[in-house]
Amino acid sequence: MAPTPQCTDDDEPTLAQTEGPYYTPDSPERTSLLEPAMPGARLTLTGRVLSTGCEPVARALIDFWQCDDVGAYDNTGFRLRGHQYSAPDGGYSLETIVPGLYPGRTRHIHVKVQAPNRPVLTTQLYFPDEPRNASDRIYRPELLVELLDGPGSKGARFDFVLDRG
Ligand SMILES: [Fe+2]
Repeated sequence: MAPTPQCTDDDEPTLAQTEGPYYTPDSPERTSLLEPAMPGARLTLTGRVLSTGCEPVARALIDFWQCDDVGAYDNTGFRLRGHQYSAPDGGYSLETIVPGLYPGRTRHIHVKVQAPNRPVLTTQLYFPDEPRNASDRIYRPELLVELLDGPGSKGARFDFVLDRG
């Protein structure tokens, strides 16, 4: 099982997935989606943006959106929506909450990733050991984050691999 591509793998591009109905363009630029008193388990998602040749992709636009702790999307504002740019080493870090569940889907985070002057990759990230993964028709194991649980914190890691084309 190797859900997270590493440089020693065959560097398959990250799978594209449906955007779904709840994307809102022009999210704010921020690395934390947390707000005071926001319910939900804190989650830190980190990783890198790489090319299929395993080179870091700097200044990639990474736009995250997700539902809240009870499975609701904010479709009028930008709660739990935000974009950032990858660092020179391709790295990114997002502070957020573990998304809730809503009917018909397993737990997931939506994301768009775009290297400068390249096409947009739209996909979704999933969580291991979720009961609904098996019944969600969009779910793909290649898009599982790696959980990095430590004392008092929940961490997750996912590296995006963009096709150089
Ligand atoms: Fe969704």
